Amino acid sequence: MQTISIIDAKDHVDEQVRIGAWLTNKRSSGKIAFLQLRDGSAYFQGVVLKNNVSPEVFALAKGLKQETSLYVTGTIHADERSHFGYEIAVDDIEVVGESEDYPITPKEHGTDFLMDHRHLWLRSQKQFAIMKIRNEIIRATYEFFNKEGFTKLDSPILTGSAPEGTTDLFHTEYFGRDAYLSQSGQLYAEAGAMAYGKVFTFGPVFRAEKSKTRRHLIEFWMVEPEMAFMHQEESLELQERYIAFLVQSVLDHCDYPLTILGRDKDVLRRYTELPYPRVTYDDAIKLLQESGEFDGLEWGVDFGSPEETYLAEHFNKPVFVLNYPKAIKPFYMKPHPTRDDVVICADLLAPEGYGEIIGGSERATDVHYLEEQIKQAGLNMDDYQWYLDLRRYGSVPHSGFGLGLERMITWITGESHIRESIPFPRMLNRIYP
Ligand code: 4AD
Ligand code: MG
Repeated sequence: MQTISIIDAKDHVDEQVRIGAWLTNKRSSGKIAFLQLRDGSAYFQGVVLKNNVSPEVFALAKGLKQETSLYVTGTIHADERSHFGYEIAVDDIEVVGESEDYPITPKEHGTDFLMDHRHLWLRSQKQFAIMKIRNEIIRATYEFFNKEGFTKLDSPILTGSAPEGTTDLFHTEYFGRDAYLSQSGQLYAEAGAMAYGKVFTFGPVFRAEKSKTRRHLIEFWMVEPEMAFMHQEESLELQERYIAFLVQSVLDHCDYPLTILGRDKDVLRRYTELPYPRVTYDDAIKLLQESGEFDGLEWGVDFGSPEETYLAEHFNKPVFVLNYPKAIKPFYMKPHPTRDDVVICADLLAPEGYGEIIGGSERATDVHYLEEQIKQAGLNMDDYQWYLDLRRYGSVPHSGFGLGLERMITWITGESHIRESIPFPRMLNRIYP
């Protein structure tokens, strides 16, 4: 007899199979027991009929505790009533590992309790659905950038540079020298672009931000493509193609997780329609001012969550906001050709209140301009000589951007808080488990 994964049940209808699974829940009456089973590939039901199994097996089934691990033997049948569409008519059960007093019961639990039990909470159906979608977005990212001719470049996690400013750095000591956990792989991606043309980094980044919001993690994963010989306009087209590809891939490969989450697939389908609208920062400020909802809002401020939400709702699609004030953006962005108060950059804002999912820009190419910016940003020039070398030896127009993986997942899954988009979230005041 074959041991199969639950997800493959459709290929084994009316066959007798064996499944290794955990019991998530159970209902029973005099003559029947319903076992809710999961094996990490899907969730489905095992039906144990008193008349079809030995008295020992029926007694065992009725006494099973939540999260006991089992081998279940039985025959697969179609089950129209469930999300999943199949169930197993049980012939035999073998207990593999006992489970007493599993802490996460089917009743409601508070978020802090669930977060303290994140190592177990991951087993629940909703967390399963989110992690499958996370996995698909990662898989599709590699597919997309491979198809577009990119080379994956691994940037270091321990670094001496601070591309996104010095206020939220995690400091550590490195054999008597200062070092930081990487905030962004971008500067290394730029070296990669000068070596291999089109590259992307993908890895964890760290921001010691004292922000306790539903959009901020202390440790998150970022995808950072960087393209030589590419100006901003072409980069924006690449960005929207990438986002549409991710959404389409989730629609194509994650129907079951999306159904578990109750995410509206028609809403997602609209996000695959290109192009996305574009608005300059100047016009965005006017829109916000005219709305009458943002008292005292003036040119020059950075947008917070309410402003980003308003803008994306206004366009009802992901929207690029172009050319922010230079004063609120990092040192490496290309100056505007005719204005010295803005830079050539864009943030992509997601609708439904999810805010900035991508930040990117064309990069400054002039070594003297960059030296000046590094000085003004209060950074140590010696730490950036290698970066300035990229402008000394064959500098070319180039652009890049960073997608926050967990922001993307939170938006696509329609969840209300970023903490559930990563297996073990690192947040302000939380590093356990
Ligand atoms: O806008 P950010 O800070 O841009 C960069 O780091 C650039 N170096 C990227 C580049 O051009 N290569 O961050 C990029 C994205 C944001 O748009 C957001 O999606 C996400 O990273 N992000 C966060 N996600 C979760 N928690 C946080 N604290 C985040 N900060 C930024
Ligand atoms: Mg940003």
